[in-house]
Amino acid sequence: MESNAGKKQKTLLGIMTVLLRIVCGATFIFSGFVKGVDSIGTAMKIEEYFVGFGIDILSPSSPLGAEFVSSLSITVAIVLAITEFVIGANLLFGIYRRTTAILLFLFMVVMTPITLYLAIADPIHDCGCFGEAVVISNWATFYKNLILLAFSLLLLRYNKEYVGVYARAVRWLPGFYSVIFMFIIAAVSVRHQPVLDFRPYKSGLNIREAVQQNVGTAEMVFIYEKDGERREFPLAEAPAADTTWHFVDRIEKSPQEAENQYSDFIIRDNDDDITEGILADTAYTFLVFIPSVEGYEDSWQNKIDELYDYAYEHTYNFYALSPDAGSWQQSIEASGMNYPCYTMDETTIKTIIRGNPAVALIKDGILYWKRSPRDIPDMAEISVPLQQTRLGEVHPYNFSKRMTGISLIYFIPLLLMFIAEKGVIGIMSKIKEKREEAKKKKIQEKEKNKNRINNKTKKEMRKNIVAGNWKMNKTLQEGVQLAKDVEKALESRTPNCEVIIATPFIHLATIASTINTDKVGVSAENCADKASGAYTGEVSAAMVASTGAKYVILGHSERRAYYGETPEILKEKVLLALANGLKVIFCIGEVLEEREAGKEYDVVKSQIEGSLFNLSAEDFGKIILAYEPVWAIGTGKTATAQQAQEMHAFIRKTVADKYGAEVAENTSILYGGSCKPSNAKELFANKDVDGGLIGGASLDAEQFMGIVDAF
Ligand code: 13P
Repeated sequence: MESNAGKKQKTLLGIMTVLLRIVCGATFIFSGFVKGVDSIGTAMKIEEYFVGFGIDILSPSSPLGAEFVSSLSITVAIVLAITEFVIGANLLFGIYRRTTAILLFLFMVVMTPITLYLAIADPIHDCGCFGEAVVISNWATFYKNLILLAFSLLLLRYNKEYVGVYARAVRWLPGFYSVIFMFIIAAVSVRHQPVLDFRPYKSGLNIREAVQQNVGTAEMVFIYEKDGERREFPLAEAPAADTTWHFVDRIEKSPQEAENQYSDFIIRDNDDDITEGILADTAYTFLVFIPSVEGYEDSWQNKIDELYDYAYEHTYNFYALSPDAGSWQQSIEASGMNYPCYTMDETTIKTIIRGNPAVALIKDGILYWKRSPRDIPDMAEISVPLQQTRLGEVHPYNFSKRMTGISLIYFIPLLLMFIAEKGVIGIMSKIKEKREEAKKKKIQEKEKNKNRINNKTKKEMRKNIVAGNWKMNKTLQEGVQLAKDVEKALESRTPNCEVIIATPFIHLATIASTINTDKVGVSAENCADKASGAYTGEVSAAMVASTGAKYVILGHSERRAYYGETPEILKEKVLLALANGLKVIFCIGEVLEEREAGKEYDVVKSQIEGSLFNLSAEDFGKIILAYEPVWAIGTGKTATAQQAQEMHAFIRKTVADKYGAEVAENTSILYGGSCKPSNAKELFANKDVDGGLIGGASLDAEQFMGIVDAF
């Protein structure tokens, strides 16, 4: 039994693993999700890694081509997002416990050293482990990973301590759904814009107001570098005298500018800052962003041209914005279009919008919307001005609305799966259980019927017999009385077996003529091994038969032990008995020493072989066998039901091997040895026990009947 302390420890272990599962699961779901919702941003970060880790072959200027590198980084981003998300979801729901724990551990084993290198060498300032959603320092990331690594080790060891939310049979479904869900989120973010926007410049923002927070007294800021680290210093604190710091640049900043994330929204026409002019414009202004001239997707050119035609027709502003405005201006003109391209910093463009090209609409400094050209309608078909269309309205970004929508899309199907599994599947498994139960019952019924039939055929094939062996007991008068009592007791019964009494020779004739021998068979306890002649004191088989007795017991252990009856002598006796029309109850059985030596089967087999296997199959059909373990005779010790059945089955097999299954099935095999009313039922219940040869208990009619009644 489990001790209380052991139980308590197990409960604590269970709670600990559930907590670890939830903490790691939530962390991984979050980090996978935020990477996936902005897969392009994640891909950009991965490209930074390629450069930061000096993997030249994967830098944008690699001979493999910028397009290859960007496809590769997008693929890595999506795979990474899905992997993290699914590990997280599997942990949270407790599905694929072992595999997930292994994946988690492997993931942490790879990530922890990478983040340690990041923290030490600092090739990338923001590791991007939580996308743009939460930016933590590289050291913080390393410590976070160290903790997760420890947790993953514990989960690797104890993942079987918690129970999953879903049943094993259906766990693939939530697992598969998580993969599909994250893939769709990632695909949407690649094809359109990030599903959730964690950067500045969300739709609906008043950029002009945001930028204007910068206005204040301008101040000079000095940029110095030391050991690869760049830092901005106000004039008074500039480390001009410290030669370990190297001067890099000097810029003008408002005091708030350092804090203002919109300070980089600057549009230049050559060297002129025209930001305010564009932001203050009350007319609709389309901005086409081209973050890099090389990566521009030509397939959208038609859409952009149509948009320009539409803007031109309705006298809306239309500008391209690119870090390389000069060369893009040439491209515009080469394509026969006539709109200006202004300069904007690449990082700023990438902060505002994903895609190359991508389009935004502003008016009065307000960002109305930002989209991929894919999401801009066919402008050639729209003749009305913008304000008469949905395009002319602000599409404000609402985080909670989107987050709620996404959560519902993810969790509702999972909830339905849960309900379906616990409800419908529960009901179905109950129905199945009931069906199986009914089926089992039917089979059992069938089996019972078969057994009944078998029993019937068994009964028909071989007889159940209860035979009493009086041995050397009772005077003639007592014997006659006992025989009468037995006959009388049987009048009120319909026994399920034949009843035989074996009496001393002297009683046979009287008893056989006193009682109905069809109801109570009469048997001798012995007969001579000679047919007739000068054998003083002997009684021949013919004499026995002449009394009206129909049976004779031969081979009883007492005759073997005390009168030296050998298998050869018994062989003769059997032949004479059969020749005189008597049925033989032939006794076999081992002594205690033989059983203790494990020789009981050999002994019994040789007894049968030695005295009976010379018979024809037909004659063997007249033999009733009685297994009487000598150690159980008159000792009060009975063979157990199992011991009896084992030996009886062995005897039947021995007969079957010699005479075939049919003869063996027809042979009645009785058990003898301290058989009483109290144990008869259990002994007779065995398949191969067909009755009993009763000694002591047959000397009293009532007891003897108790054994007869056991059938
Ligand atoms: P008990 O039933 O007295 O043990 O004797 C068995 C016997 O030898 C019958 O032949």
